Order: sequence, then C-alpha cells, then structure tokens
Amino acid sequence: MTDEQKLIEAARAARENAHAPFSNFRVGAALRTKSGKIFQGCNIENATLGLTVCAERVAIFKAISEGERDFAAIAVVCDTEKLTPPCGPCRQIIWEFCGDIPVTLANLRGKVEHETSGSLLPRPFDHSFL
Ligand code: THU
Repeated sequence: MTDEQKLIEAARAARENAHAPFSNFRVGAALRTKSGKIFQGCNIENATLGLTVCAERVAIFKAISEGERDFAAIAVVCDTEKLTPPCGPCRQIIWEFCGDIPVTLANLRGKVEHETSGSLLPRPFDHSFL
C-alpha cells in the first residue's frame, strides 16, 4: 500500500465515526505529518447546525493540539460520485497550518483525484500579511 492509499484508508475509516444526523453527509479526513503519523477526523454536526465542524478541521485541530506542526498531506473521503473538495473555511485552515500540500479526494468506490491546498485557495490571506 502506498502512503497515499494508507491515508485514503485512514480517512475512509474516520468517516465511519462521522456524526452527521442532520445532513446525512458523512466525511472522513486523514492528515499525515512529515514524520509519518496520521491524524484522523470526521465531520461532527450538532443541533444548532452552525457549530458543525468539518472532518478536515477536526483532523488538523487534533494534530495541532497534540503538538504537531509539520504536515505532508491530507486526504478527504466521501460517498459521492462527484468527489467532495474541502469547503472554504477548511481551505483557509489547511493553508495556514499545512501550507501547500497535496490534497487527495476519494470516494468509497476507488475514485481518486489530486489537488493541492495552493490550487484550492489562490492568493491566500495568511500570517505573511500581518
Ligand atoms: N463537510 C466536511 O466535513 N468536509 C467537507 O469537505 C465538506 C463538508 C461536512 C460538513 C457537514 O457536516 C456536511 O459535510 C454537509 O455539509
């Protein structure tokens, strides 16, 4: 199994834990550190809807809270034919915490597409402006 396949598999497994009773749209994410550790995330919804946290941000915030700072790649898995890219706020967070990394999109039937956080968020605002 390649590193990317392992990351997709970790995102697929994380998706099983998605808490999405309102949208029924279940998402899994997996983030690999440069040292090779994998942090998993799933989307977590709540009754206010607005406090929902996407799978990507859960994975990133878990890793940050564990002291990790250097990230190599992220994968996002949904059960959709049209692969699901990170939402706008997640693109910002991926960019700020991970820089320009590969973003792999996949579904449960083996479809895979490749993006980068830089291509998903052209002309990003970040600490370099502050
Ligand atoms: N969602 C994610 O977790 N990641 C994405 O990339 C897109 C959207 C979640 C948020 C919400 O729980 C559900 O999918 C529908 O928007």
